[in-house]
Amino acid sequence: MSTSKVTPLVDSYNRRVRDLRISVTDRCNFRCTYCMPAEGMKWLDRSQILSFEETTRLARIFVEHFDFDGIRLTGGEPTVRAQLPVLIEKLSQLVVPSTGKKVDLAMTTNGSALRNLSDDLKKAGLNRLNISIDSLDRDIFSQMTRRDQLDKVLDGIDAAIDSGFDPVKINIVMIRGVNDHEIVDFATFGRRKGVQPRFIEFMPLDADDAWSMEKVVPADEIIDKINQVYPLEPIVHGPEPAQRFKYKDGAGEVGIIPSVTKPFCGNCDRVRLTAEGQFMTCLFAIDEFDLRSILRTGGTDEELITEIERAVGKKWAGHQIGNVNFIKPPRSMSQIGG
Ligand code: 5AD
Ligand code: SF4
Repeated sequence: MSTSKVTPLVDSYNRRVRDLRISVTDRCNFRCTYCMPAEGMKWLDRSQILSFEETTRLARIFVEHFDFDGIRLTGGEPTVRAQLPVLIEKLSQLVVPSTGKKVDLAMTTNGSALRNLSDDLKKAGLNRLNISIDSLDRDIFSQMTRRDQLDKVLDGIDAAIDSGFDPVKINIVMIRGVNDHEIVDFATFGRRKGVQPRFIEFMPLDADDAWSMEKVVPADEIIDKINQVYPLEPIVHGPEPAQRFKYKDGAGEVGIIPSVTKPFCGNCDRVRLTAEGQFMTCLFAIDEFDLRSILRTGGTDEELITEIERAVGKKWAGHQIGNVNFIKPPRSMSQIGG
């Protein structure tokens, strides 16, 4: 790889693409209503999932050839993949050509396995952790995840803090009438624990098809509610999708991801790799590009590079949630990777 020329990836809307999300498994031990049906999905067979060597080969191309500076591991639930720290150790060694620094390696998890795993993840070179926790109320948590594991996730958050992850971020998918009365509670929790809440607008990626515009809690409403109790000021920042705010009293920050009410597609710098090696240029993309078949038929790095460039050349301007043109993608969130 080191012999090929570094070529940044730019799509046809002149967006520089530099952030890769890798789903390491489609499986999950939770069944969040906004993601999976109660009975689970039909899981992929082990042979369909990319091996660590295959994943690392692709990641190396993104970082060393296309100068990507961020990789985030997702699932399903990434911690159900056996030997995950082994993969993290491989990926965390990758160096971004333009900066000479190691790639920024992050992971999104439901937190239920962190008590046993977070030290190993940290030692293996993981830089950042986002933990999903949608309610601080045991009954609502159980209803949303279909698992009575609030205590385990709270303990997982403590474990992440104990291992030295800083900042620890918590992801909260807001659903009208379900957990929208907990906005200020989450702000209080974040301030007390020193973790950063990131409120996420509910997107139509649920396997149950229960999404509707009425269930979306708009970002502005979330900010207003917090601001009334803990005054906030905006943080000026780069292309990341979260709108960021800090408390005027200095007690930390919060982020809001307004995917539905204020889509950030114009700044999108992301692409995705599913657990079975399909390359996607948007969460809502219909087209998939089969990198696994290139890998498994003896394809060269140049062939992989050409296919990735072809896919990114077709990356669209943005999703159309809420618009009559919107087509719900065939995959649920757990099959793409948040
Ligand atoms: N809408 C918004 N966020 C979602 N996630 C999963 N499904 C949805 C959805 N339908 C989030 C999870 C997790 C991340 C992987 O994606 O909360 O934080
Ligand atoms: Fe599992 Fe995450 Fe989907 Fe919940 S949102 S079912 S934790 S993959």
